[in-house]
Amino acid sequence: MIILGIETSCDETGVAVYDAKRGLLAHKLYSQVTLHAEFGGVVPELASRDHVRKLLPLVKEVMGEARVELQDLAAIVYTAGPGLVGALLVGAAFANALSFVLKIPAIAVNHMEAHLLAPFLEPDPPDFPFLALLVSGGHTQLIEATAFGKYQILGETLDDAVGEAFDKVAKILKLPYPGGPELAKLAKKGNPKRFCFPRPMVNRKGLNFSFSGLKTFALNCFREFGDDDQTRADIAYAFQDAATDSLVIKCRRAIEQTNLTQIVVAGGVSANETLRQKLDHMGKEESLKVYYPRLEFCTDNGAMIAYAGWRYFVAGKKGSDMEIKVYPRWEM
Ligand code: KG4
Ligand code: ZN
Repeated sequence: MIILGIETSCDETGVAVYDAKRGLLAHKLYSQVTLHAEFGGVVPELASRDHVRKLLPLVKEVMGEARVELQDLAAIVYTAGPGLVGALLVGAAFANALSFVLKIPAIAVNHMEAHLLAPFLEPDPPDFPFLALLVSGGHTQLIEATAFGKYQILGETLDDAVGEAFDKVAKILKLPYPGGPELAKLAKKGNPKRFCFPRPMVNRKGLNFSFSGLKTFALNCFREFGDDDQTRADIAYAFQDAATDSLVIKCRRAIEQTNLTQIVVAGGVSANETLRQKLDHMGKEESLKVYYPRLEFCTDNGAMIAYAGWRYFVAGKKGSDMEIKVYPRWEM
């Protein structure tokens, strides 16, 4: 059973072919980073237009690499939300048109659920139930995942998502877009003893997060202490240290509350080295197993979409019946 997966929710066109028996056959990503770089962030209309340009050639390339013909496909899976409405519509229209021609289902999947399932593509996958920490550019959530499709949100951000905070602080520090990985790189040169940022929300009960205060703290620090290279690196270090501590503290609390023994960490920020080190350390202390996707599947990609769609397809989910509907905001 062969599935074609399509991801167009934001600024990456992702395509993958997944086979139930052989696993992932091929996957490719076309990143729009250079297109948006001069604007310092994603320009939605440019993103949609670029998906239109890149999607078909990318599908042809990936199908060729996987040595798969259109007639071999059992279903087409696409991200239906959350994301940028115009960008989502490109993938949804493409998938539904192909499904109409091939007379196979077009299955809509939730982008955040696909992130959560990404570690299942690894050789040593997790098993339900687990605690999921979803950390991306638009979401920061702690989720109790009891079974496939059964998720309860235990906590989430009250303001900025952690990836968004990384990107905004990176902008303050005059780093190029996309800021998160650039800030992490700069933080390596930071002096750990120079600044200490607060750990937001840790003195409050519950499992919610807040990151906008850290962003303001970084801005005030930058204004007060100047923007020489060392100060920028010191601010990057202090911000990253505080943001990742806040995530780890709440994870530990969620584990105490649920007694779960596995943590799945996914979404763009799960690529962050400092976060991984801190979570691995906590895992050792608490005898927990921590699972991540491989680095290239932390950020947006077609492979996680194909995999999530395959799970829904075998679970009996029906296709979207030519209804091209997308959900810019969509709770999983
Ligand atoms: O999952 P993703 O690719 O897209 C969304 O679904 O939002 O996540 C993108 C986010 C961006 O905010 C980006 O700056 C952040 O993930 N990110 C990182 C790192 N790599 C990506 N943040 C911190 N450290 C990283 N290494
Ligand atoms: Zn994402």
